[in-house]
Amino acid sequence: MKKLFFLPALAILGLLFIQGVTKSEPETKFISHEIAPDMPPQVKAIVEQKCYGCHNAESKNEKGKKKLDWDEFEASKKAKQMATKGKIVEALENGDMPPAKFLENKPEGKLTEGELATLMEWSAGKKKSPKE
Ligand code: HEC
Repeated sequence: MKKLFFLPALAILGLLFIQGVTKSEPETKFISHEIAPDMPPQVKAIVEQKCYGCHNAESKNEKGKKKLDWDEFEASKKAKQMATKGKIVEALENGDMPPAKFLENKPEGKLTEGELATLMEWSAGKKKSPKE
């Protein structure tokens, strides 16, 4: 009798376990990342609109993905983030990003002056809190 009692209990435990495993799967959506707390929401918003399409882990833009992967950026250590930020500053200063070729077909992808300033400020690390 006792043995039979065990079976449903085991089944329930199993189910709970499976649920736990599925729940703990890493969140891949960019917006909900909480890993890089120093990335202000307005910077994220710009990156998502203007940069993320080519620079993410699943991007078909192999070259862009290799040079900069925002998913990886968010998960990487401070030192690596700093190095990447340096590259971003450089790319923005040179007006390299988004690439001119891409903008020929998609002029709305260009950064506005305000967006450029926000990204620059953030990547150059001039302003820690962009709230003011
Ligand atoms: C249309 C696709 C596309 C978009 C949009 C885009 N990039 Fe890129 N990005 C690329 C490609 C392709 C490369 C690699 C260029 C190369 O190797 O010549 C690259 C390279 C870079 C690099 C590395 C430069 C280096 O030499 O290491 C940085 C930093 C960068 N992009 C930042 C940005 C930022 C910031 C944005 C948004 C403002 C952005 N990108 C938007 C395609 C894109």
